[in-house]
Amino acid sequence: MVQIILVLVLAYLLGSIPSGLIIGKVFYKTDIREHGSGNLGGTNTFRTLGVKAGLAVTLADILKGTLAASLPVLFNLPDLNPLIAGVFAVVGHTYPIFAGFRGGKAVATSGGVVLFCAPYMFIAVLVVFFISLYITKYVSLSSMLAGVCGVIYGLVLWNIPLLIAIVLLTSFVIYRHRANIKRIINKTEPKIKWL
Ligand code: G3P
Repeated sequence: MVQIILVLVLAYLLGSIPSGLIIGKVFYKTDIREHGSGNLGGTNTFRTLGVKAGLAVTLADILKGTLAASLPVLFNLPDLNPLIAGVFAVVGHTYPIFAGFRGGKAVATSGGVVLFCAPYMFIAVLVVFFISLYITKYVSLSSMLAGVCGVIYGLVLWNIPLLIAIVLLTSFVIYRHRANIKRIINKTEPKIKWL
């Protein structure tokens, strides 16, 4: 039991590593939370610092979720479902102890968790994300639709732990996009220009 708690704390701390803040401050002397949407995530890094930095932050945030979900396997804890460790990492990414609890919107790190726990679901949500992005040009809306696709996928598979985790993660993603939803309705949400 102590080991499980320690691994969950480790997963939270891993998720808390503020990739956007580190890459922004170290390489560009910029706190991306003071620019664009103010979000500490890949999209706002793309917007503020460009493609290279945006890609680096997105990949680092995905990796945090994947690594955290793999911790129960790495520490040989069969009683701890990787999805639970993954959810702790997503909470860390969103409310990071290393960045004043002001983190991202849970998308990339949730993706990393899904990549480890359900790779086919990851491919499905990625396809939906890019189709939606191509049509709507909204990253935020596409992120939420990808989450909804994950929920439908979980329902079809009827894998209860996966379904619970994906419902939780998608609800969290939608909750964190409250401001984006308002902007989409008001037609003030920025669209991407490169697709
Ligand atoms: O991953 C976050 C994205 O869906 C929205 O980010 O910066 O446009 O609020 P942002």
